[in-house]
Amino acid sequence: MTNVDAILQAGLAAVEAVSDLIELEQVKARYLGKSGELTELLKQLGKLPPEERKAAGATINVAKQAFETAHNARRDLINAQKLEAQLAAESLDVTLPGRGLSTGGLHPVALTLERIATLFRSMGFQVADGPEIETDFHNFQALNIPENHPARAMADTFYVEGGDVLRTHTSPIQVRYMLNNEPPIKIVAPGRVYRVDSDATHSPMFHQMEGLWVEEGVSFADLKAVVTDFLRRFFERDDLQVRFRPSFFPFTEPSAEIDVLGERGWLEVGGCGMVHPNVLRNVNIDPEKYSGFAFGIGLDRFAMLRYGVNDLRLFFENDLNFLKQFN
Ligand code: DAH
Repeated sequence: MTNVDAILQAGLAAVEAVSDLIELEQVKARYLGKSGELTELLKQLGKLPPEERKAAGATINVAKQAFETAHNARRDLINAQKLEAQLAAESLDVTLPGRGLSTGGLHPVALTLERIATLFRSMGFQVADGPEIETDFHNFQALNIPENHPARAMADTFYVEGGDVLRTHTSPIQVRYMLNNEPPIKIVAPGRVYRVDSDATHSPMFHQMEGLWVEEGVSFADLKAVVTDFLRRFFERDDLQVRFRPSFFPFTEPSAEIDVLGERGWLEVGGCGMVHPNVLRNVNIDPEKYSGFAFGIGLDRFAMLRYGVNDLRLFFENDLNFLKQFN
C-alpha cells in the first residue's frame, strides 16, 4: 500500500489544476469513481494478508477523505468565483450616464408629403389613394391617352404580366375616385409612380401628388387661385411669382405647366389643366353639367427645393447620415 500517498498527491494536484466544475467532476471520477484509482485500491484489500487489511483500509479511507475534502473546497471556490463574476457582469452602475432614447424619423419626402397634404386639407381637399399596379384602362385609356400615344411606349413604362402597368403617374387615382364618387369631388392623391428613367433628376420610382376638383362651375380661375395659394404657402412667400405656361396633356383641355420664379429663373413644378370632357364622360360624369381642374406635382422635386437637395438619388439611397439631417 505504499502507493496510496502517491495516488493521493496526484489526485490533490489534479483537483487544484482545474477551474471548471465539469472537469472537477471528471477528476473525482478518476479517483473515487467505480473504477477510480482509490476505489481500485479498496477492491484489492481482499488480496492482502488478513493482518494487514485493517491498517491498509484505514490508510485508504484517510486518503479518500482527504481527496473529498480537497474536492469540496475546490468546488466551493469555483462556485464562489463564478458568482462573483456574474455579479460583476450584471451589476448596475447607477452613476453611468443614460443611453437616451433613440427614435426613428420621417423621410424628407414623407415630411414634404405630409406638409403638402396638410395644406390641401386646410383648403377642403380629401386625401385619396389607389393601387400602384394599374390597369391599362385606369392609367391610360380613361385618361384619354390613345393606344399609340408616346407615353405608352415600352421604353417609358414597366409592364407586368397580363398587360397591367406600374402606374406611370398618380392620375389614375382621379379615374378611380370619379368612378366611385359623385361630384362635388375635391381630392389630392399622393403616391409612388414608376417610369423607365434614371439619372440625377430622374428615378425609376418617384412620388407625385394629384389634385382634382370637380363641381358645377369650377373654372380655370379656381385652378390658378388654388395652385398659387398652395405654392405661396408651401414656399412661405406671399410674393412668390407663379406662371401657368400653355402646354398639352391628353387628359386636360386647356393644359398648362406650373412654373415658379426662383433665384435661378423659372422652374417647372407640375402640370395642370381643366379636366377633358372625354375623361369626364369615361367616368360617367356629365361634362355639360360639371367641370373641374386637375394638377399633378412631383413630390420629390418639392422636397429637393424645400431642403436644398440637388441630387434626387440621395432620397432613395437610405444613407442614415443623409436622412438623419431632416429630423
Ligand atoms: N400626369 C402628368 C404626368 O405625370 C402630370 C399631370 C399633368 C397631372 C396635368 C394632371 C394634370 O392632373 O392636369 O406628367
